[in-house]
Amino acid sequence: MSALRTLLVGLGARGAFWAEVINRSPDCELVGYVDPRPEALQQARERFGDRPAFADVDEALAAIEGVEALVLATPPEGREQQIRAACERKLPLLVEKPLALSLEEAAVTVRQAEEADIPLMVGLNFRYLAVTEETVWLLREGVVGRPEFARFTYERWRDGYRARLNKYPLSMVHPMLWEQSIHHFDLMRFVYGAEPETAYCKTWNPSWTMYADDTNVSAIFTFTGDLVVNYQGTWQSGWQEPHFEWRTDCTEGILTQGDQFGELSFARRHDPSLTPVSLSPHEQWITDTSGVLRAFVKSVVGGEPLECSGRDHLKSLAMVEACITSSETGRAVDVRAILERLTG
Ligand SMILES: NC(=O)c1ccc[n+]([C@@H]2O[C@H](COP(=O)([O-])OP(=O)(O)OC[C@H]3O[C@@H](n4cnc5c(N)ncnc54)[C@H](O)[C@@H]3O)[C@@H](O)[C@H]2O)c1
Repeated sequence: MSALRTLLVGLGARGAFWAEVINRSPDCELVGYVDPRPEALQQARERFGDRPAFADVDEALAAIEGVEALVLATPPEGREQQIRAACERKLPLLVEKPLALSLEEAAVTVRQAEEADIPLMVGLNFRYLAVTEETVWLLREGVVGRPEFARFTYERWRDGYRARLNKYPLSMVHPMLWEQSIHHFDLMRFVYGAEPETAYCKTWNPSWTMYADDTNVSAIFTFTGDLVVNYQGTWQSGWQEPHFEWRTDCTEGILTQGDQFGELSFARRHDPSLTPVSLSPHEQWITDTSGVLRAFVKSVVGGEPLECSGRDHLKSLAMVEACITSSETGRAVDVRAILERLTG
Protein backbone atom coordinates (compact mmCIF):
# COMPACT_ATOMS: atom_id res chain seq x y z
CA MET A 1 0.00 0.00 0.00
CA SER A 2 1.50 3.35 -0.99
CA ALA A 3 1.59 6.21 1.49
CA LEU A 4 -1.30 8.70 1.42
CA ARG A 5 -0.01 11.89 -0.22
CA THR A 6 -1.01 14.53 2.32
CA LEU A 7 -0.92 18.32 2.08
CA LEU A 8 -0.64 20.20 5.38
CA VAL A 9 -2.49 23.52 5.54
CA GLY A 10 -1.70 25.81 8.48
CA LEU A 11 1.73 25.77 10.10
CA GLY A 12 1.20 27.45 13.43
CA ALA A 13 1.39 25.87 16.88
CA ARG A 14 -0.78 22.89 15.99
CA GLY A 15 0.45 22.52 12.42
CA ALA A 16 3.96 21.87 13.76
CA PHE A 17 2.70 18.79 15.62
CA TRP A 18 0.86 17.65 12.52
CA ALA A 19 4.03 17.98 10.42
CA GLU A 20 5.93 15.86 12.96
CA VAL A 21 3.18 13.24 13.13
CA ILE A 22 2.67 12.99 9.35
CA ASN A 23 6.44 12.73 8.87
CA ARG A 24 6.68 9.89 11.37
CA SER A 25 3.72 7.99 9.92
CA PRO A 26 4.56 5.08 7.61
CA ASP A 27 1.09 5.47 6.08
CA CYS A 28 1.41 9.09 4.91
CA GLU A 29 3.72 11.20 2.83
CA LEU A 30 3.89 14.92 3.56
CA VAL A 31 3.89 16.45 0.08
CA GLY A 32 3.76 20.17 0.80
CA TYR A 33 3.03 23.06 3.12
CA VAL A 34 0.48 25.88 2.91
CA ASP A 35 0.51 29.00 5.07
CA PRO A 36 0.24 32.70 4.15
CA ARG A 37 3.11 33.53 6.55
CA PRO A 38 6.49 33.12 4.81
CA GLU A 39 8.26 32.67 8.17
CA ALA A 40 5.96 29.74 9.03
CA LEU A 41 6.80 28.07 5.70
CA GLN A 42 10.51 28.69 6.20
CA GLN A 43 10.44 27.22 9.72
CA ALA A 44 8.52 24.17 8.50
CA ARG A 45 11.08 23.56 5.76
CA GLU A 46 13.90 23.78 8.28
CA ARG A 47 12.28 21.62 10.95
CA PHE A 48 10.35 19.05 8.94
CA GLY A 49 12.08 18.85 5.56
CA ASP A 50 12.29 20.87 2.37
CA ARG A 51 9.05 20.51 0.43
CA PRO A 52 7.00 22.66 -1.96
CA ALA A 53 5.51 25.53 0.05
CA PHE A 54 2.66 27.87 -0.86
CA ALA A 55 0.72 30.79 0.56
CA ASP A 56 -2.59 29.50 -0.79
CA VAL A 57 -4.26 26.09 -0.91
CA ASP A 58 -5.53 26.39 -4.51
CA GLU A 59 -2.04 27.31 -5.68
CA ALA A 60 -0.61 24.29 -3.86
CA LEU A 61 -3.17 21.90 -5.32
CA ALA A 62 -2.55 23.21 -8.83
CA ALA A 63 1.22 22.79 -8.47
CA ILE A 64 1.63 19.52 -6.55
CA GLU A 65 0.67 16.37 -8.39
CA GLY A 66 -1.40 13.62 -6.88
CA VAL A 67 -2.42 15.12 -3.54
CA GLU A 68 -4.70 12.54 -1.88
CA ALA A 69 -5.72 14.20 1.41
CA LEU A 70 -5.72 17.54 3.23
CA VAL A 71 -4.96 18.15 6.89
CA LEU A 72 -6.25 21.56 8.02
CA ALA A 73 -4.52 23.04 11.07
CA THR A 74 -5.83 26.52 10.38
CA PRO A 75 -7.88 28.66 12.77
CA PRO A 76 -11.58 27.70 12.82
CA GLU A 77 -12.60 31.00 11.25
CA GLY A 78 -11.93 31.41 7.53
CA ARG A 79 -11.66 27.80 6.36
CA GLU A 80 -14.23 28.17 3.56
CA GLN A 81 -11.67 28.25 0.74
CA GLN A 82 -9.83 25.21 2.07
CA ILE A 83 -13.03 23.19 2.48
CA ARG A 84 -14.27 24.19 -0.97
CA ALA A 85 -10.91 23.26 -2.52
CA ALA A 86 -11.08 19.78 -0.95
CA CYS A 87 -14.69 19.24 -2.00
CA GLU A 88 -14.06 20.34 -5.61
CA ARG A 89 -11.15 17.93 -5.93
CA LYS A 90 -12.79 15.18 -3.87
CA LEU A 91 -9.96 15.11 -1.32
CA PRO A 92 -10.57 13.53 2.10
CA LEU A 93 -10.31 16.14 4.86
CA LEU A 94 -8.93 15.96 8.36
CA VAL A 95 -9.80 19.23 10.11
CA GLU A 96 -8.78 20.54 13.51
CA LYS A 97 -11.46 21.15 16.13
CA PRO A 98 -13.71 23.05 16.33
CA LEU A 99 -15.01 22.49 12.82
CA ALA A 100 -16.46 26.04 12.84
CA LEU A 101 -17.40 28.80 15.25
CA SER A 102 -21.12 28.22 14.91
CA LEU A 103 -23.16 25.05 14.77
CA GLU A 104 -24.93 26.24 11.65
CA GLU A 105 -21.70 26.86 9.77
CA ALA A 106 -20.34 23.48 10.88
CA ALA A 107 -23.54 21.82 9.61
CA VAL A 108 -23.12 23.53 6.22
CA THR A 109 -19.56 22.18 6.04
CA VAL A 110 -20.70 18.67 6.94
CA ARG A 111 -23.35 18.78 4.20
CA GLN A 112 -20.82 20.12 1.68
CA ALA A 113 -18.49 17.19 2.39
CA GLU A 114 -21.36 14.69 2.22
CA GLU A 115 -22.53 16.09 -1.12
CA ALA A 116 -18.98 15.88 -2.45
CA ASP A 117 -18.86 12.33 -1.01
CA ILE A 118 -15.59 12.87 0.83
CA PRO A 119 -14.69 11.78 4.37
CA LEU A 120 -14.55 14.69 6.84
CA MET A 121 -12.85 13.84 10.12
CA VAL A 122 -12.33 16.22 13.06
CA GLY A 123 -9.04 16.05 14.99
CA LEU A 124 -10.29 15.03 18.43
CA ASN A 125 -6.96 13.76 19.66
CA PHE A 126 -7.97 13.31 23.32
CA ARG A 127 -10.07 10.31 22.26
CA TYR A 128 -6.82 8.54 21.32
CA LEU A 129 -5.06 8.85 24.67
CA ALA A 130 -4.42 5.62 26.56
CA VAL A 131 -6.26 7.12 29.54
CA THR A 132 -9.39 7.63 27.42
CA GLU A 133 -9.20 4.16 25.89
CA GLU A 134 -8.82 2.58 29.36
CA THR A 135 -11.75 4.60 30.71
CA VAL A 136 -13.94 3.40 27.86
CA TRP A 137 -12.87 -0.18 28.55
CA LEU A 138 -13.48 0.03 32.32
CA LEU A 139 -16.94 1.50 31.79
CA ARG A 140 -17.85 -0.98 29.08
CA GLU A 141 -16.77 -3.90 31.27
CA GLY A 142 -18.76 -2.49 34.18
CA VAL A 143 -15.77 -2.69 36.56
CA VAL A 144 -17.41 -0.10 38.82
CA GLY A 145 -20.92 -0.44 37.42
CA ARG A 146 -22.94 2.07 35.42
CA PRO A 147 -22.15 5.82 35.55
CA GLU A 148 -24.81 8.00 37.17
CA PHE A 149 -23.08 11.30 37.90
CA ALA A 150 -19.75 13.00 37.28
CA ARG A 151 -17.68 16.08 38.02
CA PHE A 152 -15.33 17.37 35.31
CA THR A 153 -12.89 20.07 36.42
CA TYR A 154 -10.33 21.78 34.18
CA GLU A 155 -8.53 24.76 35.74
CA ARG A 156 -5.72 26.42 33.86
CA TRP A 157 -4.10 29.82 33.75
CA ARG A 158 -3.52 30.03 30.00
CA ASP A 159 -1.14 32.84 29.15
CA GLY A 160 -2.62 33.87 25.82
CA TYR A 161 0.45 36.01 25.03
CA ARG A 162 2.94 33.16 25.42
CA ALA A 163 5.25 32.68 22.42
CA ARG A 164 4.33 29.76 20.15
CA LEU A 165 0.71 29.80 21.36
CA ASN A 166 -2.07 30.88 18.99
CA LYS A 167 -3.19 34.47 19.55
CA TYR A 168 -6.67 34.56 17.98
CA PRO A 169 -8.41 33.22 21.15
CA LEU A 170 -7.48 36.48 22.91
CA SER A 171 -10.07 38.37 20.86
CA MET A 172 -12.59 35.68 19.85
CA VAL A 173 -16.06 35.17 21.34
CA HIS A 174 -16.27 32.37 23.93
CA PRO A 175 -12.67 31.16 23.54
CA MET A 176 -12.96 28.63 26.38
CA LEU A 177 -16.06 26.94 25.00
CA TRP A 178 -15.09 26.78 21.33
CA GLU A 179 -11.38 26.08 21.75
CA GLN A 180 -11.12 24.01 24.93
CA SER A 181 -14.44 22.81 26.36
CA ILE A 182 -15.28 21.31 22.96
CA HIS A 183 -12.64 18.63 23.70
CA HIS A 184 -14.20 17.97 27.11
CA PHE A 185 -17.75 17.78 25.77
CA ASP A 186 -16.62 15.38 23.06
CA LEU A 187 -14.86 13.23 25.67
CA MET A 188 -18.01 13.02 27.81
CA ARG A 189 -20.08 11.78 24.85
CA PHE A 190 -17.35 9.38 23.74
CA VAL A 191 -16.45 7.87 27.10
CA TYR A 192 -20.01 7.48 28.38
CA GLY A 193 -21.42 6.42 25.00
CA ALA A 194 -24.28 8.80 25.83
CA GLU A 195 -25.81 11.83 24.15
CA PRO A 196 -26.59 15.19 25.76
CA GLU A 197 -30.20 16.02 26.58
CA THR A 198 -30.10 19.37 28.42
CA ALA A 199 -27.57 22.02 29.43
CA TYR A 200 -27.77 24.67 32.12
CA CYS A 201 -24.78 27.00 32.03
CA LYS A 202 -23.19 30.25 33.09
CA THR A 203 -20.12 31.69 31.39
CA TRP A 204 -18.15 34.74 32.57
CA ASN A 205 -14.73 36.35 32.72
CA PRO A 206 -12.83 36.90 35.97
CA SER A 207 -11.69 40.48 36.69
CA TRP A 208 -8.01 39.65 35.91
CA THR A 209 -8.70 38.10 32.50
CA MET A 210 -6.47 38.82 29.49
CA TYR A 211 -9.17 37.51 27.10
CA ALA A 212 -11.81 39.70 25.50
CA ASP A 213 -14.60 37.19 26.10
CA ASP A 214 -15.59 34.56 28.66
CA THR A 215 -13.00 32.08 29.88
CA ASN A 216 -15.06 30.56 32.70
CA VAL A 217 -17.70 27.91 32.03
CA SER A 218 -19.86 26.31 34.67
CA ALA A 219 -22.44 23.86 33.36
CA ILE A 220 -24.69 21.00 34.33
CA PHE A 221 -25.50 18.51 31.58
CA THR A 222 -27.98 15.70 31.56
CA PHE A 223 -27.27 12.79 29.24
CA THR A 224 -29.20 9.80 27.98
CA GLY A 225 -29.05 6.95 30.48
CA ASP A 226 -29.92 9.16 33.48
CA LEU A 227 -26.43 10.60 33.73
CA VAL A 228 -25.69 14.07 35.13
CA VAL A 229 -22.35 15.80 34.57
CA ASN A 230 -21.18 18.86 36.44
CA TYR A 231 -18.59 20.76 34.41
CA GLN A 232 -16.26 23.56 35.45
CA GLY A 233 -13.63 24.88 33.09
CA THR A 234 -11.43 27.96 33.07
CA TRP A 235 -8.51 29.39 31.11
CA GLN A 236 -7.97 32.12 33.70
CA SER A 237 -7.57 30.26 36.95
CA GLY A 238 -6.30 32.21 39.93
CA TRP A 239 -3.16 30.04 40.06
CA GLN A 240 -0.67 29.22 37.31
CA GLU A 241 -0.50 25.53 38.33
CA PRO A 242 -3.03 23.56 36.27
CA HIS A 243 -5.57 21.28 37.89
CA PHE A 244 -7.58 18.54 36.21
CA GLU A 245 -10.01 16.13 37.79
CA TRP A 246 -12.67 14.01 36.15
CA ARG A 247 -14.50 11.80 38.59
CA THR A 248 -17.38 9.54 37.63
CA ASP A 249 -19.59 8.01 40.30
CA CYS A 250 -21.06 4.69 39.24
CA THR A 251 -23.48 2.16 40.70
CA GLU A 252 -20.62 0.15 42.27
CA GLY A 253 -17.74 2.62 42.68
CA ILE A 254 -15.89 5.49 41.08
CA LEU A 255 -13.44 6.21 38.27
CA THR A 256 -11.14 9.18 38.60
CA GLN A 257 -8.70 10.82 36.20
CA GLY A 258 -6.21 13.22 37.80
CA ASP A 259 -4.45 14.62 34.74
CA GLN A 260 -5.70 15.42 31.26
CA PHE A 261 -3.14 12.98 29.82
CA GLY A 262 -3.29 10.20 32.41
CA GLU A 263 -3.49 9.28 36.12
CA LEU A 264 -6.49 6.97 36.01
CA SER A 265 -7.70 5.13 39.12
CA PHE A 266 -10.81 3.39 40.32
CA ALA A 267 -12.31 2.24 43.61
CA ARG A 268 -15.22 -0.05 44.40
CA ARG A 269 -17.59 1.40 47.00
CA HIS A 270 -15.94 -0.11 50.09
CA ASP A 271 -12.31 -0.14 48.91
CA PRO A 272 -10.06 1.65 51.41
CA SER A 273 -8.03 3.29 48.63
CA LEU A 274 -7.92 3.93 44.89
CA THR A 275 -6.45 1.33 42.53
CA PRO A 276 -4.22 2.96 39.88
CA VAL A 277 -4.70 1.78 36.29
CA SER A 278 -1.46 1.24 34.37
CA LEU A 279 -1.37 3.06 31.06
CA SER A 280 0.83 2.55 28.02
CA PRO A 281 3.64 5.12 27.51
CA HIS A 282 2.60 8.37 25.95
CA GLU A 283 4.40 11.15 24.09
CA GLN A 284 2.33 14.28 24.66
CA TRP A 285 0.56 15.63 21.51
CA ILE A 286 2.29 12.97 19.39
CA THR A 287 0.81 9.60 20.47
CA ASP A 288 -2.72 11.04 20.52
CA THR A 289 -2.38 12.93 17.23
CA SER A 290 -0.86 9.83 15.62
CA GLY A 291 -3.98 7.96 16.75
CA VAL A 292 -6.16 10.47 14.92
CA LEU A 293 -4.06 10.09 11.77
CA ARG A 294 -4.11 6.29 11.91
CA ALA A 295 -7.91 6.30 12.21
CA PHE A 296 -8.16 8.70 9.26
CA VAL A 297 -5.96 6.51 7.05
CA LYS A 298 -7.82 3.34 8.11
CA SER A 299 -11.00 4.92 6.83
CA VAL A 300 -9.68 6.68 3.72
CA VAL A 301 -7.44 3.85 2.53
CA GLY A 302 -8.80 0.84 4.39
CA GLY A 303 -12.49 1.65 3.98
CA GLU A 304 -13.25 1.34 7.71
CA PRO A 305 -16.00 3.46 9.27
CA LEU A 306 -14.87 7.04 9.87
CA GLU A 307 -14.21 7.96 13.50
CA CYS A 308 -14.75 11.54 14.77
CA SER A 309 -16.83 12.38 11.70
CA GLY A 310 -17.94 15.93 11.11
CA ARG A 311 -21.54 14.82 11.56
CA ASP A 312 -20.78 13.29 14.95
CA HIS A 313 -18.93 16.47 15.95
CA LEU A 314 -22.14 18.49 15.48
CA LYS A 315 -23.48 16.90 18.68
CA SER A 316 -20.56 18.26 20.71
CA LEU A 317 -20.86 21.66 19.03
CA ALA A 318 -24.56 21.65 19.96
CA MET A 319 -23.45 21.39 23.61
CA VAL A 320 -21.33 24.52 23.11
CA GLU A 321 -24.23 26.40 21.55
CA ALA A 322 -26.59 25.21 24.29
CA CYS A 323 -24.15 26.55 26.91
CA ILE A 324 -24.04 29.95 25.22
CA THR A 325 -27.82 30.19 24.93
CA SER A 326 -28.33 29.01 28.51
CA SER A 327 -25.88 31.58 29.84
CA GLU A 328 -27.57 34.34 27.86
CA THR A 329 -31.10 33.42 28.89
CA GLY A 330 -30.52 32.03 32.38
CA ARG A 331 -32.54 28.95 31.41
CA ALA A 332 -31.79 25.28 30.82
CA VAL A 333 -31.56 24.47 27.10
CA ASP A 334 -32.71 21.32 25.32
CA VAL A 335 -29.70 20.14 23.30
CA ARG A 336 -31.78 17.59 21.38
CA ALA A 337 -34.09 20.36 20.15
CA ILE A 338 -31.10 22.32 18.83
CA LEU A 339 -29.96 19.29 16.86
CA GLU A 340 -33.44 18.51 15.61
CA ARG A 341 -33.84 22.09 14.31
CA LEU A 342 -30.56 21.69 12.50
CA THR A 343 -31.32 18.40 10.80
CA GLY A 344 -35.07 19.10 10.76
N1 LIG B 1 -6.38 19.20 18.98
C1 LIG B 1 -5.62 19.93 19.76
O1 LIG B 1 -5.17 19.49 20.81
C2 LIG B 1 -5.31 21.35 19.35
C3 LIG B 1 -4.33 22.09 20.01
C4 LIG B 1 -4.09 23.38 19.58
C5 LIG B 1 -4.82 23.92 18.52
N2 LIG B 1 -5.77 23.15 17.91
C6 LIG B 1 -6.57 23.68 16.80
O2 LIG B 1 -5.76 23.80 15.64
C7 LIG B 1 -6.20 24.90 14.84
C8 LIG B 1 -5.03 25.85 14.64
O3 LIG B 1 -4.59 26.31 15.89
P1 LIG B 1 -3.09 26.83 16.12
O4 LIG B 1 -2.88 26.80 17.58
O5 LIG B 1 -2.13 26.09 15.27
O6 LIG B 1 -3.24 28.34 15.61
P2 LIG B 1 -2.07 29.29 15.12
O7 LIG B 1 -2.63 30.66 15.06
O8 LIG B 1 -0.83 29.06 15.95
O9 LIG B 1 -1.73 28.77 13.66
C9 LIG B 1 -2.64 28.85 12.59
C10 LIG B 1 -1.82 28.91 11.29
O10 LIG B 1 -2.72 28.87 10.21
C11 LIG B 1 -2.25 29.81 9.25
N3 LIG B 1 -3.34 30.20 8.35
C12 LIG B 1 -4.30 31.13 8.56
N4 LIG B 1 -5.11 31.20 7.48
C13 LIG B 1 -4.64 30.29 6.58
C14 LIG B 1 -5.04 29.89 5.30
N5 LIG B 1 -6.11 30.44 4.70
N6 LIG B 1 -4.34 28.93 4.65
C15 LIG B 1 -3.27 28.37 5.25
N7 LIG B 1 -2.83 28.70 6.48
C16 LIG B 1 -3.52 29.65 7.14
C17 LIG B 1 -1.69 30.96 10.08
O11 LIG B 1 -0.81 31.78 9.32
C18 LIG B 1 -0.99 30.20 11.19
O12 LIG B 1 0.35 29.89 10.87
C19 LIG B 1 -7.38 25.52 15.61
O13 LIG B 1 -8.58 25.00 15.11
C20 LIG B 1 -7.16 25.05 17.05
O14 LIG B 1 -8.34 24.95 17.80
C21 LIG B 1 -6.01 21.90 18.30
